[in-house]
Amino acid sequence: MPHDTPPTTVPTVPCPASAEPRPGELTPADGSRVASHPALAPAARWWRRVTEESFGLDLVPATLTDEVEDGDGATVATVRFVLDETLAAGAYALDVSDAVVHVTAADLPGAFAAAQTLRQLAGAQAFRRSAGAPFVLPAVRLQDAPRHHWRGVLLDVARHFLPKADVLRFVDLAAAHHLNVLQLHLSDDQGWRIEINRYPRLTEVGAWRRESTVGTWRTGTADGRPHGGYYTADDLREIVGYARERGVMVVPEIDVPGHVRAVLAAYPELAARSGTHEVSTIWGISDDVLDPSEATLGFFRDVLDEVCRVFDAPFVSLGGDEVPTTAWSERPDVVDRAAGLGLVADDGTPDVARLHGWFVARLADHLRTRGRRAVVWDEAFGPDLPRDAVVLCWRGHAVALDAMAAGHDVVMAPEQEVYLDHRAADGPDEPVPVGFVRTTADVYAFDPLPPAVRDARPDLPTELPGALLGAQAQVWTEHLDSARRIDYAAFPRLAAFAEAVWTTDPAPRHVGGPAGNAFLERLESAHLPRLAAAGVEFRPPGGPLPWQTRPGVAGYPRDLAAERAAAGWEGAGGWVAGRDGAEPEALA
Ligand code: ACM
Repeated sequence: MPHDTPPTTVPTVPCPASAEPRPGELTPADGSRVASHPALAPAARWWRRVTEESFGLDLVPATLTDEVEDGDGATVATVRFVLDETLAAGAYALDVSDAVVHVTAADLPGAFAAAQTLRQLAGAQAFRRSAGAPFVLPAVRLQDAPRHHWRGVLLDVARHFLPKADVLRFVDLAAAHHLNVLQLHLSDDQGWRIEINRYPRLTEVGAWRRESTVGTWRTGTADGRPHGGYYTADDLREIVGYARERGVMVVPEIDVPGHVRAVLAAYPELAARSGTHEVSTIWGISDDVLDPSEATLGFFRDVLDEVCRVFDAPFVSLGGDEVPTTAWSERPDVVDRAAGLGLVADDGTPDVARLHGWFVARLADHLRTRGRRAVVWDEAFGPDLPRDAVVLCWRGHAVALDAMAAGHDVVMAPEQEVYLDHRAADGPDEPVPVGFVRTTADVYAFDPLPPAVRDARPDLPTELPGALLGAQAQVWTEHLDSARRIDYAAFPRLAAFAEAVWTTDPAPRHVGGPAGNAFLERLESAHLPRLAAAGVEFRPPGGPLPWQTRPGVAGYPRDLAAERAAAGWEGAGGWVAGRDGAEPEALA
């Protein structure tokens, strides 16, 4: 039932389902034991190590079994991580008294969330590598469980390469907010970022570009400075392992059959259009796409095999967004191929546009043989997409219902709501202001599938065969060329997103409402100090600091209200073949 009071006075983010502060506090000392059920040990280990480092303590690892065998009250652990499989998936409870910390978790994800909450309870200083303050845990009883199980964030390391250390730091920050999926956007027109042994030119050539556009491509301003970089397989295994040790699954994205100019620069024989190709130096959409041939499929099956040897997640993203089909229409042999494959329009004529879904589907089939499920942007959803593919809905909410009705599980990532590269305010000081205004309060109001979207589709049955897995925020980096710029764009809005997809509290989170205001208050009083202690250069609530502005660099602001007025509640959303042409699109 909606209520007007914040559900807790414990100022953690995301907010727990229920929390009851109690009198007293606990001050674990050197030698305190941290005992865990073996299934929860990674979470206990992470918490123990981060606490030892911050507070200069030596804690002692133990297993709960040791404790029983000791049978000696004096050796009972101060901190206990106990498994309770009767709890809902991802749920946990914390009971901190002046003597012990009792963590009960349904599973390892629940234990990771508990460990992060414990860290936040120790105050902002717990986010410093050296706290310079004693370790004190306030006594509390707390219960918590996630609303959604896919709580993702996409990090685009293709448009601007992000050094490995900054990716690891981003993993820490995602985990600190109970986010559990990191989609790494590893390839695009502007760069290929993963070492593939079989095709070395992907990184020798595809990882580097001559220069970069400064701000929107429309001004034609270039920096005249080469840019690039890539991760070795070992770098990526390190990122995957580091994330796993924090409860974060890394989903790699290899974008096909569009967004491939970096591939074509390295292997031009894969191009739908012959000629020389260059790693793109401008943002936006290119109509240089892959030749949808068996040879190209073979190439990408090899690439995906190497990807599957590096990444252990059950999901691999094949991209599939923004695929202009003009280069296919220009080639009679490709038109014939579509006809030969039975890819025809309603009137029976060959339909090259269906090669898009067909191509992605063949690679999804290949991933299945490797035990992985494909994740695709919603343009790749259609009759040819295998039902086990997860549809990542970025062009709005409406497509999600069609995808779920067709049996797909979906993850909501609407650009109108949760693109964190979009400007955080309407002011002239926002650095390179692109896209829609999405304030922290706007992002907090995000609902992956609002009732209005469901109500607009009375034609669909109440129970759909596909499931809503959760939601994902996007950090595209055309205009974010460093970790500092990413900090500014992502924080604190990613904290607002994290709570929106975590909280089970049914209180409406609309802008200006009590829940949103309580969140903003908690953010400013308790959470921004944590981010500051962690060294995050977030956007201050009052706007950018002088060095966070980019005077003279043009963005491309869009007006959400105007687009919604023109195209309904959803807004027009995304790039649309035939509507937006092959020019670089508005968004970038
Ligand atoms: C996208 O923003 N093109 C997924």
